[in-house]
Amino acid sequence: MTGPALSGRPIGLLDSGVGGLSILREVRAQLPAEHLIYLADQAHVPYGSRSIEQVRAFTEGIARFLIAQGVKLIVVACNTASAAALRPLRAQFPAMPFVGMEPAVKPAASATRSGVIGVIATEATFQGELFASVVGRFAQGVRVETRACPEFVRLAEAGEITSPRARLAVRRCLAPLLATGIDQLVLGCTHFPFLSEAIQAEAGPGVTIVDPSPAVARQAGRVLRDRAALNPADTPGSVTCYTTGQPDAFRTVLRTLLGAEFAALAGVRAAAWDGDRLGEQG
Ligand code: DGL
Repeated sequence: MTGPALSGRPIGLLDSGVGGLSILREVRAQLPAEHLIYLADQAHVPYGSRSIEQVRAFTEGIARFLIAQGVKLIVVACNTASAAALRPLRAQFPAMPFVGMEPAVKPAASATRSGVIGVIATEATFQGELFASVVGRFAQGVRVETRACPEFVRLAEAGEITSPRARLAVRRCLAPLLATGIDQLVLGCTHFPFLSEAIQAEAGPGVTIVDPSPAVARQAGRVLRDRAALNPADTPGSVTCYTTGQPDAFRTVLRTLLGAEFAALAGVRAAAWDGDRLGEQG
């Protein structure tokens, strides 16, 4: 192998936009020495209303881009992309480990006392085979109520997470779910943890919000540990974000979502699609 030793290589993360930053935040907290490269495909956000074939093609292009940057692991920090592309990615790039997202139906189903759990995600996530298989495997004897909330993706992309408009959107989306008697609410889209304060306020104390991001970061750590690929450095790793949208706008939203201190240490660069190939710009 050429280039730096495996342990010193970066972890790649991807999402349609800023949602996967909720995963990046956890990875950074749990594995601070790791170098992180994040790709936000904001030229194509939202993924949730697109066909599985389209999302798969974008995700494959991004995986190639991250592999070309020398990453040692790819975290598909997007439920929609995981549902559409995780299996084909693993088949296509067998030497690259992938950590993906699946709606956290399992912990919600084992914790429910009312016997009714809610899942919010994108339309495409609910249509994929992965969701049906997760419900089939883990929700025996539990009622699963679902609702697509595309407006939450738009709000997080705009960094609008506490505004009256955000609170109203949360109220509208959750009302039919809350009426079914859920006591667990699974955040099945990585954009949604950024709205968790508004979601918890609306759902009330009787509903537990299930956010899988800490578990996903733990899984990333396990995969690297098993391969002896954790970075042993005792200094903080670098964070580089690429967007296929506008770097300035990304920087502003990054500050809103992860705070000024984090935004100051992250580099933000542009990437652009040329057909189905993704490359660094400028
Ligand atoms: N953050 C993504 C997810 O976890 C995608 C949202 C979207 O682009 O529609 O599903």
